[in-house]
Amino acid sequence: MKILVTGGTGYIGSHTVISLVNSGNEVVIVDNLSNSKIQVLDRLYKITGKKIKFYKTDVRNEKKLFAVFRKEKFQGVIHFAGFKAVGESVEKPLEYYSNNLESTFTLMKAMKTFGVRNLVFSSSATVYGKPASVPIYEDFPLSTTNPYGTTKLFIERILTDWSKAEKGMNIALLRYFNPVGAHESGLIGEDPNGIPNNLVPYITKVAVGKLPFVNVFGDDYDTPDGTGVRDYIHVCDLAEGHVAALKKLETNPGLVVYNLGTGKGYSVLEMVEMFRKVTGREIPYRVTPRRPGDIDVCYASTEKAKAELGWEAKRDLEQMCRDSWNWQEKNPDGYSK
Ligand code: NAD
Ligand code: UFG
Repeated sequence: MKILVTGGTGYIGSHTVISLVNSGNEVVIVDNLSNSKIQVLDRLYKITGKKIKFYKTDVRNEKKLFAVFRKEKFQGVIHFAGFKAVGESVEKPLEYYSNNLESTFTLMKAMKTFGVRNLVFSSSATVYGKPASVPIYEDFPLSTTNPYGTTKLFIERILTDWSKAEKGMNIALLRYFNPVGAHESGLIGEDPNGIPNNLVPYITKVAVGKLPFVNVFGDDYDTPDGTGVRDYIHVCDLAEGHVAALKKLETNPGLVVYNLGTGKGYSVLEMVEMFRKVTGREIPYRVTPRRPGDIDVCYASTEKAKAELGWEAKRDLEQMCRDSWNWQEKNPDGYSK
């Protein structure tokens, strides 16, 4: 299939491009490079041996996006483009609503105009808010605690309404748990601007000596060691989940929703310990107060994705940490060197 990947030079998008190419798809990327680097394209070429067609375009730019659709004639779209930082979304809600919602509206218009009927959307486990229990099943109640999460929930609802109105549209809402790791080559990986917000890129920056210690946000949670528990999933497993979802759309299922996680939870201290093991370095840490909005425990039920997509995560925590470290060690300044 010929697939448009919006946000395809970003962290998850770039890994998904590899899985798409490896499974025989033709890929075109649209990205405005607001949170990614053009060097990703050379790295993708090194990994896949294919020159990936790229348009430096804002998805909200209707004229330019329509021109891309007119020229390329896609059979499907994976929509990663958007802003994703929870804390920043609280500071700048308008920017988050504008970017995440408007890019989706423009994309929907283009898909309708050019008769493209298959869409995979990047949602997030954040739409479950504070779940009443774990594991989290896809039919749990939805709520959000920050503007970023609200954009994901709004978009899920908008796409659900659209799929009811537009018969023949096939849409997969994929709720990611905590993507970490990097391609085994160490050529692509997560390259956050400034000080990382998320745990794993923060730990690798400590391990490489760019930050002095990890701040453990609270050790009084209702978990075995008191620190927060999350479902970390290797980004390459996540990428393969997108290929499985696209295959599912070929069966004309209408709207489908899947968790993409491993079904296992690890605490902050377990993550620090695993990085100590794979890096062979001490990872100093200090316990600090809880981060507002964080929950105790979050991990997925993986049953539905396994049964309906035939997909499950294969890579274990050690591999996730080893691959994150391999990327960080080979690229201490991310893509800029
Ligand atoms: P990322 O920031 O690395 O990638 C997003 C890409 O979209 C970037 O390359 C950015 O330049 C581009 N972009 C943003 N706005 C755009 C616009 N208007 N037009 C064109 N390009 C635009 O983020 P990621 O971690 O790869 O996340 C991809 C998607 O998955 C996002 O929608 C994110 O919300 C979602 N998600 C991420 C996580 C996570 O922890 N990384 C978890 C759940 C869901
Ligand atoms: N944590 C620390 N110190 C840090 C960073 C995080 O102790 O410096 C802790 C957090 O309190 C939490 C765990 O590590 O217990 C994971 O935190 P992350 O910031 O890495 O990830 P979150 O679970 O908070 O959120 C991430 C993405 C969201 C997405 C969600 C999906 O940032 O966008 O996963 O589950 F919605």
